[in-house]
Amino acid sequence: MFKDLIKDRHTIRTYKNDAVDFDTVKELLKFALMGPSYKSARPIEFLVVDDKPSLEKLAKLGAFSTKYLADVPLCIITLAHTDTTTTWLQESAVVTAYFQLLAKEEGLDTAWVNIYGTEKEDKPASEYLATFLDIPAGLTPVNIIPVGYGDERVRKRKDFDISDKIHFNTPR
Ligand SMILES: Cc1cc2nc3c(=O)[nH]c(=O)nc-3n(C[C@H](O)[C@H](O)[C@H](O)COP(=O)(O)O)c2cc1C
Repeated sequence: MFKDLIKDRHTIRTYKNDAVDFDTVKELLKFALMGPSYKSARPIEFLVVDDKPSLEKLAKLGAFSTKYLADVPLCIITLAHTDTTTTWLQESAVVTAYFQLLAKEEGLDTAWVNIYGTEKEDKPASEYLATFLDIPAGLTPVNIIPVGYGDERVRKRKDFDISDKIHFNTPR
């Protein structure tokens, strides 16, 4: 059930060494791009990083919790055409969230590492990435999605009441 899938997805920061089948990931990326997109602009592309030296450099990004990236089988970096739409940041989030759920359905675990707006040694993190990654011209890296088979215990999600998060226009 889709609700169970949503409950079972967790941010995973420890992965097994097991390789990930890229054809499977490619298929999931296609479906991740089928979400809503402002004026159907579809400004998001992907950079796949699966070579050890680059993963080790990603791990040195120094943003919130990145050391484990050296040991993941594969990372997807979302890239945005920032000149074609004003909504590229939201669109990257839509695509990432879709991908995380698609991956979970396939038995794969993921996390979400924010790049956009972060810095490495007082410079935008994107500048650091460009020193070792082949980022196509005109595209801005937004976030990293590590992908693999998780190797950590996760707590079951508790049910919770959302009454205080819902507001009504009319008294009831
Ligand atoms: C916009 C956004 C940015 C995030 N950035 C990071 C990040 O930089 N590093 C990280 O380890 N987790 C990051 N996360 C993941 C959250 O920490 C995680 O979703 C949260 O702890 C809840 O855990 P859960 O995903 O298992 O429900 C980010 C999540 C979102 C939505």
